[in-house]
Amino acid sequence: MKMEMEMETRTSGLIILPQIKHQRRCILIILLPFLSILLPLIIIFHSQASFFTFPSSTPSPSGPFSNLGNPTHSSHSNLVETLTAKLKDSVTFLPLKDLRYSETPMDGNTWFMSSLTDTFEEDEPAYLYFPSNSSKGRVLCIKGRHTTDGTKNSYALAWPEALPPSATLLEGLTFVSDTYYSHENLWHGLCAIAPFVGWSMKNQCLKPSRWVLFHWGELRTKMGSWVWNLAKAKFGDVGIEVFGKGDGPYCFEKAVVMRHELEGMRDEKKLRIIDLMRCKAREACGLDPMGRGKELNERGAPIIRLTLLMRRGARSFKNEEVVKGIFGKECERVEGCVLSVIQSEDLSFCDQVRVMTNTDIFASPHGQQQTNMLFMDQGSSVMEFFPKGWLEHGGVGQYAYHWMANQSGMKHQGAWRDPIGEECPNPEQELECFLFHKDSKIGHNETYFAEWARKVLNQVRVSKLEQASKAQVTSSACEC
Ligand SMILES: *[C@@H]1O[C@H](CO)[C@@H](O)[C@H](O)[C@H]1NC(C)=O
Ligand SMILES: *[C@@H]1O[C@H](CO)[C@@H](O)[C@H](O)[C@H]1NC(C)=O
Ligand SMILES: *[C@@H]1O[C@H](CO)[C@@H](O)[C@H](O)[C@H]1NC(C)=O
Repeated sequence: MKMEMEMETRTSGLIILPQIKHQRRCILIILLPFLSILLPLIIIFHSQASFFTFPSSTPSPSGPFSNLGNPTHSSHSNLVETLTAKLKDSVTFLPLKDLRYSETPMDGNTWFMSSLTDTFEEDEPAYLYFPSNSSKGRVLCIKGRHTTDGTKNSYALAWPEALPPSATLLEGLTFVSDTYYSHENLWHGLCAIAPFVGWSMKNQCLKPSRWVLFHWGELRTKMGSWVWNLAKAKFGDVGIEVFGKGDGPYCFEKAVVMRHELEGMRDEKKLRIIDLMRCKAREACGLDPMGRGKELNERGAPIIRLTLLMRRGARSFKNEEVVKGIFGKECERVEGCVLSVIQSEDLSFCDQVRVMTNTDIFASPHGQQQTNMLFMDQGSSVMEFFPKGWLEHGGVGQYAYHWMANQSGMKHQGAWRDPIGEECPNPEQELECFLFHKDSKIGHNETYFAEWARKVLNQVRVSKLEQASKAQVTSSACEC
């Protein structure tokens, strides 16, 4: 009988009474004031195989609270059912995106699930976990199919024994990611998934059964391909939930929610997360997770790999050939230097991992393709180029790859900012000016580029010579 019930709830997707043995415990917790009423009932439960074998000959009471002094099976069964039904109906859904916080969407509880407060642990990403002590054992439920208006999506907490009417229970662990930016962009996507990697490292390397993705509370049904490949390298080929079985609600047996990117972690933890992701990506692409080790040429000089990663269109070089020429000439002057010039758009994920695994100096215009620096060995160098106008109008975001270099153990070797270009028509209009300059092309300064390349190449040569004399350290980065 009980087996049948469970089978039925599973196949229909309608969770009416999901787990009978848990239901007793739940009702007890909720109905402490009624404990005296329920006590005889518990005795009955323990003496019965199930709810549904009550003798039909028992006289029917007129209501749930009648006959309290002399309880009968069905009166208490009715009471439990009535109260469970009320509990189910009392589950209250709130908008996923709370417009009251539209001025400060990323602060504090953020505008995503704004009524819920994060758990903070020393040096860990701020997160929400359900069910937990702080949710009083309640699970997270979401009605979240809107893709253009996060205020039309909603969330609620519910006890697993009294899920809201017509809820679907999604079993296993779910990773719920909300980003203010994007799961498509390499940099922002990395920032969105990194805290899950951090959480997993702290929690027995757990992997999710599915992802749920939101942007401003709007459902997203995919990650960008690079971001997806990186997530897959660490967590495997788990699906992205699209809530395909109707409007919901959908409740999660277990869920971790992240809405703060890397906030809360110290540099050391970020470094370990990056180490792990580098290692996993290399492994997934069939490369040695330790990198290429020490490479020497036939005369014992260290090989120095300089990669120019180019872009097309926005923020590409005005004259790529000249730039290639300048770096090529400097590379030729250093024994062991090998120059590669590569179009980032032409590379598959694994090609990008392979190229960067084999790069010591990564020179590239400012842009998301720079996120690939994470695949270089720690201590490698980054050179960055900006078009005119970024210093003045680019905001703090222009330092993203400088921070990333710092946080992933790379050396940011500075940036070149093109002094030449069209003037923005209304210099006092910050945003307008930024958009004006954002995607312009980048010129060059032969003298500057040559001196800069020479300096960095020399530094890298010295440090590779030092390394060559040291024993290679093995890393445990891939363990999780
Ligand atoms: C939850 O609360 C129980 C009882 O107070 C306690 O024993 C347990 O350690 C708590 N769990 C966590 C993860 O804090
Ligand atoms: C990167 O780290 C260096 C050394 O710790 C520091 O001086 C520099 O300000 C950092 N840069 C950024 C952009 O955070
Ligand atoms: C090019 O760079 C050199 C060396 O830094 C500098 O002296 C010169 O003024 C720059 N030229 C232009 C046109 O910016």
